[in-house]
Amino acid sequence: MFAVQFESPGYIEVLQVRDVPVPSPGEGEVLIALEASAINPADVKIRSGVITPQGSAPFTLGYDLVGTVKATGPNAERFLPGARVIGASTSAVTGNGTWSEFVCIPETSLAHAPEDVDPALLAQLPLPGLTALQAVDALQLTQGSDVLVSGAAGAVGRIALQLLHLRGHRAHALVRRAEQVEWLPTGVAEEVHIGSLPVSRVDGVIDTAGIDLSAALRPGGHYVTVVPGSPPHSVSTDNATLVITHESGAMLHALAELVTDGELTLPESTTFTFSEIEAAHHEYDRHLGRRITLVV
Ligand SMILES: NC(=O)c1ccc[n+]([C@@H]2O[C@H](COP(=O)([O-])OP(=O)(O)OC[C@H]3O[C@@H](n4cnc5c(N)ncnc54)[C@H](OP(=O)(O)O)[C@@H]3O)[C@@H](O)[C@H]2O)c1
Repeated sequence: MFAVQFESPGYIEVLQVRDVPVPSPGEGEVLIALEASAINPADVKIRSGVITPQGSAPFTLGYDLVGTVKATGPNAERFLPGARVIGASTSAVTGNGTWSEFVCIPETSLAHAPEDVDPALLAQLPLPGLTALQAVDALQLTQGSDVLVSGAAGAVGRIALQLLHLRGHRAHALVRRAEQVEWLPTGVAEEVHIGSLPVSRVDGVIDTAGIDLSAALRPGGHYVTVVPGSPPHSVSTDNATLVITHESGAMLHALAELVTDGELTLPESTTFTFSEIEAAHHEYDRHLGRRITLVV
């Protein structure tokens, strides 16, 4: 089978599509025939060495997964062969990512894929969706709170905005550039701020852009970031959370239901095949704001 791998971090050319053995599902694991995945910032950070890959080379990248169950390991009983599933693996940092023809992943990290949804759209859900959901949960908001989301036009930000809105909060979007306003989900943001923080203070913030939002937070408000390195020192550690996304099939199931019900929309993307992996990364590096789907 093919796998997108690299030996040591570097520029795009370090990525190679290689022929490697098909893995066997272990205890509680499922073997998935991959259909689609996506490029996330963490893939680029690991490939380029901004995040140091752990373990020994070669390293396989990839977080998102849309595919079909081919076989199940011992005590994996939730999904039958033939089931279409979505999943997010957080193993790319240890070199066991999803960018390969077949992927072994714990069944607890999977959810049934919503029916009749384009795999290119579904591939935009797993990692950004889990991250957004875990960030919103970390805020521990009371009903009807005001929450500022930075990087609101990005993959995590636009899902966080929608989840906040669905939970009855007032979501305030912060984008960097005027053109990004058009990329926001419609009818969800209470206010949109372009390039500068709102004047009135909010009850909580979710930073997905790695910028300091503390000036917009009311005293005692909660600061959540998904970008390692923040939150800023000015926020008390009691009121700050760095979310490191964990795998959760149950959360993916909840997100998939929102997609099925039309309550959560996902962004259009540009599609490349895995054999075009270099071109896909060059397109991603152009920072056009459009997500990239990778298909088998
Ligand atoms: N903690 C975790 O486990 C975890 C999980 C998933 C993601 N993440 C991290 O979360 C971040 C967002 O991920 P994503 O998938 O949503 O990325 P994304 O789709 O690239 O979105 C990031 C957004 O932030 C904006 N942005 C970046 N720098 C900015 C700045 N200095 N000022 C204003 N806006 C800025 C970007 O705008 P431009 O296009 O103009 O740059 C873009 O709209 C990434 O750093 C990613 O690595 C962490």
